[in-house]
Amino acid sequence: MKVVVLYQSRTGKTKHCAELIGRAALAAGAESAGMWPVTNVDHQALAEADLVFVGTWVGGIVIAGHHPGDTGKLAKMPAIFDKKVAAFMTYEFHAGSVLSKFSGWLTRQKGADVIAARQFRNAKLDEEAAAAFFEEAAAAIGVTITG
Ligand SMILES: Cc1cc2nc3c(=O)[nH]c(=O)nc-3n(C[C@H](O)[C@H](O)[C@H](O)COP(=O)(O)O)c2cc1C
Repeated sequence: MKVVVLYQSRTGKTKHCAELIGRAALAAGAESAGMWPVTNVDHQALAEADLVFVGTWVGGIVIAGHHPGDTGKLAKMPAIFDKKVAAFMTYEFHAGSVLSKFSGWLTRQKGADVIAARQFRNAKLDEEAAAAFFEEAAAAIGVTITG
């Protein structure tokens, strides 16, 4: 299975999350797990990917107004029609229902087939959490992780 992880990150937390997901993919036996910012995507790798993770951060005023961060930059990434996509987000305290908004945005704006979505609170983000999300997404496209 070829995996691509795309991310938008201002202060490095979503990038760190992307790295953990990529490492989890390789540990689970993925053939490749390339990682790029959404503004600088390897089109060839994206075209060949069986599973694409797309992540950004949660914007808002903490208790309300939650929205996917930097949608202007996300809008510049290539369309991902016909791709199985797992959406992820990082946040500090409250994310509201932003995850469903982000999944809907990826579907409407980029043609993604969103098969899994997860939000990671930074304080609880670790290898185990990333691996669990990778397993969920892989299972959703029919790949069972045995190792
Ligand atoms: C303008 C702005 C608004 C934010 N609003 C929220 C928020 O409403 N709730 C929350 O939990 N975190 C909020 N955060 C925190 C970020 O979502 C969080 O730190 C995220 O992990 C940053 O990702 P990054 O390091 O990849 O840029 C906000 C950050 C910024 C810059």
